[in-house]
Amino acid sequence: MPDHTYNRVEFFSGEKIPLEMHKARMVQRVHLRPVGERLYVLNSTGNNTFLLPNRDVFLDMLTDSGVNAMSEAQYAAMLLADDSYAGSETFYRLEKTVREFFGLEYFLPAHQGRACENILATAYVKPGQYMVTNYHFTTTKAHITRVGGLVYECVSDEASVTDSVNPFKGNYEMAKLAGFVDKVGVEKIAFVRIEAGTNLIGGQPVSLENMREVAGYCRSKGLRLVFDASLLADNLYFIKTREESCRNRSLSDIVLEMSGLMDVIYFSGRKLGCARGGGIALAHEADYRKLRDLVPLFEGFLTYGGMSVREMEAMNVGIQETLDIDTISQTPIFVQALGEALQAKGVPVVTPFGGLGCHVDARKFIPHVPQEQYPAGSLGSAVFLTGGIRGMERGTMSEQRNPDGSEHLSSVELLRLAVPKRVFTLSQMMFVADRLGWLYEHRDLIGGLEFEDEPETLRFFLGRLRPVGDWQERLAEAFRKDMPTGL
Ligand SMILES: Cc1ncc(COP(=O)(O)O)c(C=O)c1O
Repeated sequence: MPDHTYNRVEFFSGEKIPLEMHKARMVQRVHLRPVGERLYVLNSTGNNTFLLPNRDVFLDMLTDSGVNAMSEAQYAAMLLADDSYAGSETFYRLEKTVREFFGLEYFLPAHQGRACENILATAYVKPGQYMVTNYHFTTTKAHITRVGGLVYECVSDEASVTDSVNPFKGNYEMAKLAGFVDKVGVEKIAFVRIEAGTNLIGGQPVSLENMREVAGYCRSKGLRLVFDASLLADNLYFIKTREESCRNRSLSDIVLEMSGLMDVIYFSGRKLGCARGGGIALAHEADYRKLRDLVPLFEGFLTYGGMSVREMEAMNVGIQETLDIDTISQTPIFVQALGEALQAKGVPVVTPFGGLGCHVDARKFIPHVPQEQYPAGSLGSAVFLTGGIRGMERGTMSEQRNPDGSEHLSSVELLRLAVPKRVFTLSQMMFVADRLGWLYEHRDLIGGLEFEDEPETLRFFLGRLRPVGDWQERLAEAFRKDMPTGL
């Protein structure tokens, strides 16, 4: 695999350090509470990092969604927003950018990524039909199953191997796709979806070559191909740096080839475009007409789709900035720096390093905690306790239960430490590595979690859990012994 240190300025000393190609001109104060307070907050918020108030969090590594640092050009554009219900200039500017960026003719606005999924599921999926995908995302699956559909995954088996050298672990395994379509028949497939990069398996990318293969297959079978481009910025960086044939191609050229393969592209503008919104780009008029009527029903009129016009302006600029290598490299090179620092302390992390964030392999970190006790969730609690660091469980807790009520055990148990673009400093990343290094040395103390309040849908968002036993008190005690200030 090519060394993915593209865009790192060389240091004379030979050290590999991710150098920021921006400077901070506005900052937000953060607070590190002592361990006793962290323990109290953790238990009063149901051991669910989604429920932690920001005021009690030191480093918010929950997600990159809507929390990337915006550029000065994005803020400036917000002042130009044309606030009107219908026919806003802001919409036409955004539509033009999306058309040029993806090269697809039609565009529909929606307030965020899952809103696009709601529209697609409502329009395309009949009960008993499948959405075939490389790997599912939580909200995608929830929308498909909500309308009576089913999800089938065709990612290669290597996707769940956490310490791999495969540069494109998000790729489709073509034999799985063809085998499944042959088995159930094309009429049972609502659409085929490519998610690039793949969120739940560690921000792992999909290669352009694989996209070509999937598209060629779909065309030969008359299957609709839908692309979830929410995590496109990271994926684009990995295609550019890891896919030999793309090394000398411009980012725009790569995006245009990729999107030319798709029938429908949707995205969360909270990620792609670093603002707060979303949208659907479409190649065919018939699809546009089918989906169009659902926008005013679910989202808002066609020229704002539930978004604030200021956010639309910011998204417009943010999408254009996706074609700047210094912008899109920032998360991957910080993820790599954090990952290498964690590896140096023996902490098991997902490799190759992906986009979105650094992913800790909870099954390897705490093999004594059974999957039924949500190891990635309990590791998330322990990491908050240890350093005020808020990560996100990406494992069994993020799965839906099977229709018979049994647990659907995830193929991977990951604690994601998201690295939103341009938000953290390198010293903060080193603090994270230091605290996880301490925790790794005390990993035997970590126990499991159990639900005390389990919502039926997307339970990981609002569910409340309690520790199995008193392991959190014992962990806090050990921390206090080693760090008498409690910080
Ligand atoms: C791959 C992917 N698809 C869809 C979504 C949903 O987007 P949103 O959070 O804007 O609803 C996300 C959000 O994390 C995502 O990562």
